Amino acid sequence: MIELQGLTKRYGDKTAVDHLTFTVRPGVVTGFLGPNGAGKSTTMRMMLDLDNPTAGDVRIDGKHYRDLNEPFKYIGALLDAKAIHGGRTAYNHLLCLAQSNRIPASRVDEVLETVGLSSVAKKRSKGFSLGMGQRLGIAGALLGDPEILMFDEPVNGLDPEGIHWIRNLMKDLAAQGRTVFVSSHLMSEMALTAEHLVVIGQGRLLADTSMADFIATNSRSYVRVRTPDPERLRDALAAAQIIPVVTGDGSFEIEGGDPARIGELAAKHQLTLHELSPQRASLEEAFMQLTADSVEYHAGGHLAGDPAGAVPVTDPAAPQWGAGWSGGKDSTPSTGKES
Ligand SMILES: Nc1ncnc2c1ncn2[C@@H]1O[C@H](COP(=O)(O)OP(=O)(O)OP(=O)(O)O)[C@@H](O)[C@H]1O
Ligand SMILES: [Mg+2]
Repeated sequence: MIELQGLTKRYGDKTAVDHLTFTVRPGVVTGFLGPNGAGKSTTMRMMLDLDNPTAGDVRIDGKHYRDLNEPFKYIGALLDAKAIHGGRTAYNHLLCLAQSNRIPASRVDEVLETVGLSSVAKKRSKGFSLGMGQRLGIAGALLGDPEILMFDEPVNGLDPEGIHWIRNLMKDLAAQGRTVFVSSHLMSEMALTAEHLVVIGQGRLLADTSMADFIATNSRSYVRVRTPDPERLRDALAAAQIIPVVTGDGSFEIEGGDPARIGELAAKHQLTLHELSPQRASLEEAFMQLTADSVEYHAGGHLAGDPAGAVPVTDPAAPQWGAGWSGGKDSTPSTGKES
């Protein structure tokens, strides 16, 4: 378990991390999200005592990192895959780590096998591709067989097979009851990997909630309906005081609609439906919606804080975000049930 209490880091007049309080729990993969410069890496460095907090506190299983007896056996981390002595072979790099942390040398072969680098164990790491470097960094994190694992953008540079592998590795580690804390900008990947989310923007906590609650709270939901008889369906819906949005491809979108009610209505009017599907925005849309106001670095094209610019809407006439949306600068962090 990792516990943060009012954790704050200032560099001069820049507040990189601003009173963060949250707990990373065992048994699930917790995703750590935030736009570039949000303070994710700084937070992770403070967890490992690589940076001193300006204020607040962070504890690993109730202790400060510096007070852990054999830290490698408590927490393993991949922060910067390039922070490896390129002249050393993969095996020797891990052996040095093992020897300086009283870990048996046999463990080196085990982790090389786990990350799929056994065949290049005797090669110098400076010749490694980006993905191989990531795997070596992950091997280092696993070396002490720790209960807590932390990865800063581990899928950077990994090919699809590598991404699939790390997704399963993280889920397996969490299923073994370990604490897994991982940052990533790959939202589609995060949606498949993490069960819990901590989202920050400009150093501040924006959300600490389950993946399902995060998407439900920060995005709209609607029902898509397709029929060969749109005029009659529109009339039937209008009679029930349901106003659909007609999209470019002729389907209807009903904001916050109940599929059962719409299906029954169609049946009552003997209308054929070719589609009746509840739609939920993706994690990416929900993330962009919530963090629009805290994006510091963005390309021209839309203004930060402009939801319509941040998230494509199928039809210009479509209603904007449903009542469930509570994103934006002034939103309070949602605290969904812990999973
Ligand atoms: N050593 C430092 N000295 C001064 N400012 C720093 C230092 N380290 C980080 N910062 C600043 O703190 C803020 C947070 O940076 P951090 O690297 O933690 O963000 P991040 O969320 O990891 O971003 P990214 O997604 O781009 O990796 C940034 O504005 C950054 O410029
Ligand atoms: Mg970072």
